Amino acid sequence: MKKALVLALTLILAISLLSGCGQKGKTLADIQKAGKLVVATSPDFPPFEELQSDGEVVGIEVEIMKIICERLGVEMELAQVDFESVLPGVKSGKYDIGMSGISVTEKRKKNALFTDPYCLAAQSIVVTEGSEITSKADLEGKTVSVQTGTTAEQFCMDNGYTVNAFAANSDAELALTTGKVDAWVIDDLTAAEMVAAYNAEHEDQLVILDEAMTTEPYAFAFMKGSDELVGEINKIVNELIADGTVAALFEEYGAPYTAPTNN
Ligand code: ARG
Repeated sequence: MKKALVLALTLILAISLLSGCGQKGKTLADIQKAGKLVVATSPDFPPFEELQSDGEVVGIEVEIMKIICERLGVEMELAQVDFESVLPGVKSGKYDIGMSGISVTEKRKKNALFTDPYCLAAQSIVVTEGSEITSKADLEGKTVSVQTGTTAEQFCMDNGYTVNAFAANSDAELALTTGKVDAWVIDDLTAAEMVAAYNAEHEDQLVILDEAMTTEPYAFAFMKGSDELVGEINKIVNELIADGTVAALFEEYGAPYTAPTNN
């Protein structure tokens, strides 16, 4: 009888652990004990995080995260992954925090806990010069490239466009420049950076349409239940917004800054 009970309890424990019910999120003490913050990032998103040829990941979010880690007294450990793996990895506890120009959405809030946002962004349409697409309305019936798992993908699917999704942002760009799609939808500031870099080296120019679609706050993502840790990080994030550090970083990276509303 006793054996059966032990077996039943073990089984319940195993099932709850496997299904994630046993996870409570991390505390500041957990992070400080580990001495590091494991940061999941998809470094194909300038000016927020970009992998340089020397192997270093640089960008506005990297700078912000360095300050956060410094203030928490821990090391920053970057884990480079495809964007679509960032939020699932944070949810499962594989990574402590997601840093990837992540837009806060109601859907994502069901699976992750977000810090207060530090900026606002929007989706942009990129086309090749001379394209017949000149506004969002022209995208109807067209094929559009996006990065997998992004709000751009969601936006295009919601609008009924034919979507070609790529794990890497550079491949979404390549699909446009090689004529496999009619347009590329991507966050505005990253569009500006990537298009400028492309146009500097190519004769067939890319064009960003002057129509910002959506308003998306960017924030960092944590496993649900990490409320105390997120509270501590929110203090730092809001301080960095209030004292002008975030705006200065945008300026340093040559990007226009739009502050978030109601933090
Ligand atoms: N802001 C968009 C989103 O949250 C795109 C983010 C893409 N990030 C990246 N590091 N590639 O879906």
